[in-house]
Amino acid sequence: MTPARRDVLREMERFGAETDARETDNTRRMRNITFDTGELLSMLVRMTNARRVLEVGMSNGYSTIWRADGVEATGGRIETVDASEYKHRLARANFTRAAVSHLIDLRLEDAGTVLRDRAAESVEFLFLDTQRARYIEWWPDVRRVLVPGGLLVVDNATSHPDEMRPLMSLVQADSEFTSLTIPVGKGEFVALKSRG
Ligand SMILES: C[S@@+](CC[C@H](N)C(=O)[O-])C[C@H]1O[C@@H](n2cnc3c(N)ncnc32)[C@H](O)[C@@H]1O
Repeated sequence: MTPARRDVLREMERFGAETDARETDNTRRMRNITFDTGELLSMLVRMTNARRVLEVGMSNGYSTIWRADGVEATGGRIETVDASEYKHRLARANFTRAAVSHLIDLRLEDAGTVLRDRAAESVEFLFLDTQRARYIEWWPDVRRVLVPGGLLVVDNATSHPDEMRPLMSLVQADSEFTSLTIPVGKGEFVALKSRG
């Protein structure tokens, strides 16, 4: 992580905290992951040597920049999805400032559509941080798109345990997955797909 990129992330943290404290409209809030969660995501990208990385729930690009820093080291790319045009405008500007635009493909679409249209076994690392009420509906596609040995990380495992429990129960009951919750930030539910 270059000092200049870290400065952009620090400035985004201040912007996110101020905006989320002031805004009453949830669609205008940033709702970013925490700094230590970013460190974890970037580290996991490097540890798994992931090149095909998908992010569902981009907001203004804070978590994307952390993972972009990871794929810069692995030679990969990130595809990131958000259904909000407003968030895309903010994210594009932040990607330019952090010098990561060349590593990122943006999708302005519903996450369910992107997951449904994605080829089987085409994602090495999937990060889910969006509409928790739909995770159960998306799970068959999340499961399908991950490569054998692929990693799923889902934010909010400890901050929103009731909303996360249905997905976590499904994954825990699936013999193809090994999972655990890492108590970092809002709680990261991590699931590894078997290599078969
Ligand atoms: C919690 S924020 C993501 C925060 C981001 N991962 C970060 O840490 O910087 C959730 C985002 O999901 C987007 N979103 C909500 N429902 C969606 C859907 N069905 N498809 C695509 N994006 C969606 C919202 O616009 C919002 O920006």
